[in-house]
Amino acid sequence: MSALIEVRDLGKRFGNVIALQGISTSVRSGEVTCVLGDNGAGKSTLIKILAGSHPHGEGTLLIDDQERRLSSPREALDAGIATVYQDLAVVPLMPVWRNFFLGSEVTRGRGPLRRLDVARMKETTRTELAAMGIDLRDVDQPIGTLSGGERQCVAIARAVHFGARVLILDEPTAALGVKQSGVVLKYIAKARDRGLGVVFITHNPHHAHPVGDRFVLLRRGRSLGDFAKKDLPMDELVSMMAGGAELESLAHELERTMGTDSSVVSELRADLQ
Ligand SMILES: Nc1ncnc2c1ncn2[C@@H]1O[C@H](COP(=O)(O)OP(=O)(O)O)[C@@H](O)[C@H]1O
Ligand SMILES: [Mg+2]
Repeated sequence: MSALIEVRDLGKRFGNVIALQGISTSVRSGEVTCVLGDNGAGKSTLIKILAGSHPHGEGTLLIDDQERRLSSPREALDAGIATVYQDLAVVPLMPVWRNFFLGSEVTRGRGPLRRLDVARMKETTRTELAAMGIDLRDVDQPIGTLSGGERQCVAIARAVHFGARVLILDEPTAALGVKQSGVVLKYIAKARDRGLGVVFITHNPHHAHPVGDRFVLLRRGRSLGDFAKKDLPMDELVSMMAGGAELESLAHELERTMGTDSSVVSELRADLQ
């Protein structure tokens, strides 16, 4: 089956900073593409390109086999690409159902008689959450009373309801404990099983491997490869990630003690490239 999104040799610069270079991967219906890398690796830059927040520089972006250059988040949404950012942009004191429909409220009646269709919005929220396997007793409770994992799940269910075909999740497990992370991973699998293409950004190989079908590893803006799961066992993924983190902190430590212009540091930096 053809890809929902495909990128070939994608690159992005900010002035002189090369934030991304030579990135190739794909996102398919019913699959999870994981984007892994340490801080500064270029993960957010990559998803901002897919989400329409940054136009790409070099390379090719294909959506449904059509070459595209997205110039606004609206264009990405119209193509069915929804992004759930880490901060989630919810209003904590508002009920779950209000947050679910925020900015897309359902109304009934016309003209001066137009009213919010509260009953319908509550019912839709309940059924959409149930379809994702989330059983909330009360959609009237403030969303701030839900756990971090549950809030992520409401955001996922919302994106699905409003017609997403591709769901981009920027580090949804980064601020969560083990149990809550498990909850989010379960809903990622659920969205995948409903036929969405999911882009899951994380720096944790233990979160990525169980749900991922495809893995793109970024280091300092470059790709270490685009792997199918069968070609990248868990232990290899872990050691590729750990290698990067270790060298990175070693380089950092050496810079601190020896100064940035030391030859040892520049050789190590060159190895890291
Ligand atoms: N708007 C921007 N202007 C200049 N440089 C940026 C901008 N956004 C990101 N960068 C740079 O691009 C690189 C990758 O950043 P980012 O994509 O945020 O990494 P990650 O999400 O993996 O931590 C970093 O060196 C960062 O400083
Ligand atoms: Mg980031």
